[in-house]
Amino acid sequence: MLESVSAAIPSKGVLRGPVVYSESEVSPEPPASIVIFGASGDLTARKLVPSLYDLCRRGYLNPRSAIVGAARRAKTTESFRQELHEAVKAQSPQFDETHWARFVERLHYQPIEFGTPEHYQDLAQELSRLEAERGLTGDRIFYLATAPRYYAQIVERLDAAGLARPQVEARWARVVFEKPFGYDLDSAHALNESVSRHLDESQVFRIDHYLGKDTVQNIMAFRLGNGIFEPLFNRRYVDHVQITAAEDIGVESGRGGYYDEAGALRDVFQNHLLQLLCLVAMEPPSVIGAKEVRDEKAKVLSAIRALGPVDTWAVRGQYGPGEANGEPVPGYRQEERVAEDSQTETFVAARLQVENWRWAGVPFFLRTGKRMPSKSTRIVVVFKRPPAQYFRTVTCVGDVCSLSPPAPNALVFDIQPNEGVHLYLWVKRPGMNMDVHQVDMSFRYDEAFPGKLPDAYERLLVDVMRGDQTLFARSDEIERAWAIVSPALSHWAGTEASFPNYAAGTWGPEAADRLFPAGSGWLNEGV
Ligand code: BG6
Repeated sequence: MLESVSAAIPSKGVLRGPVVYSESEVSPEPPASIVIFGASGDLTARKLVPSLYDLCRRGYLNPRSAIVGAARRAKTTESFRQELHEAVKAQSPQFDETHWARFVERLHYQPIEFGTPEHYQDLAQELSRLEAERGLTGDRIFYLATAPRYYAQIVERLDAAGLARPQVEARWARVVFEKPFGYDLDSAHALNESVSRHLDESQVFRIDHYLGKDTVQNIMAFRLGNGIFEPLFNRRYVDHVQITAAEDIGVESGRGGYYDEAGALRDVFQNHLLQLLCLVAMEPPSVIGAKEVRDEKAKVLSAIRALGPVDTWAVRGQYGPGEANGEPVPGYRQEERVAEDSQTETFVAARLQVENWRWAGVPFFLRTGKRMPSKSTRIVVVFKRPPAQYFRTVTCVGDVCSLSPPAPNALVFDIQPNEGVHLYLWVKRPGMNMDVHQVDMSFRYDEAFPGKLPDAYERLLVDVMRGDQTLFARSDEIERAWAIVSPALSHWAGTEASFPNYAAGTWGPEAADRLFPAGSGWLNEGV
């Protein structure tokens, strides 16, 4: 019989043994007041409240927990509830009115000007009132889903109003920061400094929603739970690693203003891609705990080197007009709220080295882009070929045929879509000759675990309620990741690019292929 076991999680310094886990044993997480700053925004309607609703429906949200939307717009609790009713209905495939009725009575609205100290006193009073009414103990989560320029001010004001420190020693106050955390190394450092004046690092939860994806956590489970692969994850056996986060969408409506300031390097590469790299490359931690895992990731980040001038290891791109799903689509510069001579990159590819004992000499190729042919986030670990070449594949172009060694073995983590893991191997093709054929040994989530995977935000919100920081970026990780991309940020800011340089619906500029040595390249599908 197959069974599931959970990781041995250190609890107050004691190791709990593996326990059998079953989804039917869901118990509500600790109750808390959850305050969402920026509650009129898109993230609240698209992700945060639908995730909280789903957690409520599935029994994870404590029945006593209250959710307070805090934003500048004048609205009432009633109108806030009505707006979210529509939003959650649109987002949640399992929406039903009975669960909504149970959920909605927790939702409240509190208008707030982020810079006005008295408004934080009003918020404090409202929280005390709700907590008394709902029998809450005063544990609080402040979720900052505002524009990042308000983060430092909100934290400072929360502290001044006595909201950032737990009221009683045993109680807690936690602050969640949406991405992006900083605009570059200096601003990230300044934000970390100002946050640390008001909050202890144990109170700080910096979101990287990729870490909330089951398939991303599976990288750790796969490496640490199977003795057969971990010994191969090093320079002796691995030729190179490819990490791709491709999107078929362009800049979604309303996001042009943000994106044109950010670009692909800041938006996805500095956070999501480098976090994926860390999970593939890190040493096994002594236990799966917040300190241990984050220490190992930080070590990987500090070992990352980009060798040589920026143009030799990084490539930027911007899409021009092209096609998406067979339909013509405009170029980036024609998108809403994008400058018509924009120099912002919508594609980045880079070759990085992890210069440590395990990975020295193994290149890591990373790329992300908008308006590529399909949505596909995948990690391909390409192994070295056998030392002796017994087999050859024949490739013919017209009448001219050439022989080449068969493709190397590869382990593919399909993060999304078609979530799963594939191991590509060669086997003998049945018949009278000693011919080999490539096969795919695969695990697919939809076959092994039918049903929808939880949204990344659901998992991360539960972890904030539990106080588990394992899947959140620590201050040093954030700064190290910014330091890695800094040379490219400054070089590109100072040199004009000839954009657009790839058509919408293609795999990015050709220059991205030249990051590879001759004979290898990006593996877009299969291997
Ligand atoms: C976000 C970026 O962090 O990640 C978006 O800001 C991007 O630009 C998104 O589209 C991709 O996330 P996912 O989960 O769809 O791969």
